[in-house]
Amino acid sequence: METIFQELIDKAKEARANAYAPYSKFLVGSALITENGKIFTGCNIENVSLGLSICAERVAIFKAVAEGIKDIRAIAVIGDTEEPCTPCGACRQVMIEFAPDMKVVMANLHNKIKIKKARDLLPDAFKG
Ligand code: THU
Repeated sequence: METIFQELIDKAKEARANAYAPYSKFLVGSALITENGKIFTGCNIENVSLGLSICAERVAIFKAVAEGIKDIRAIAVIGDTEEPCTPCGACRQVMIEFAPDMKVVMANLHNKIKIKKARDLLPDAFKG
């Protein structure tokens, strides 16, 4: 595994500490690296109006896009799951929008890791 992937997992774990998830109590962290080496992090942020909640991955991606960067090389996601934490369908569609070839590094707290390309996580994605 590329050393940068472990670094992303570590950053995602740090970001997970900021998760605001009083409703689900499921804390998620994410960190991405752009093609030119910039790192953006995210955590899930819930709301009492539950549908307004947003996943950690989308927070990290939207932070990068808001800074004018869309070429994402890899994104890590970590949660307290038995198997590596996998992104939801909505996040997969958002990943594909910006960088279908980005590597998605899925991890759990016990260092179980799985890596796939975003495009392979959502076959036949909606293209409009
Ligand atoms: N969640 C994420 O942040 N990322 C995922 O990949 C899966 C789900 C969040 C959304 C919600 O705040 C909580 O986890 C439970 O679904």
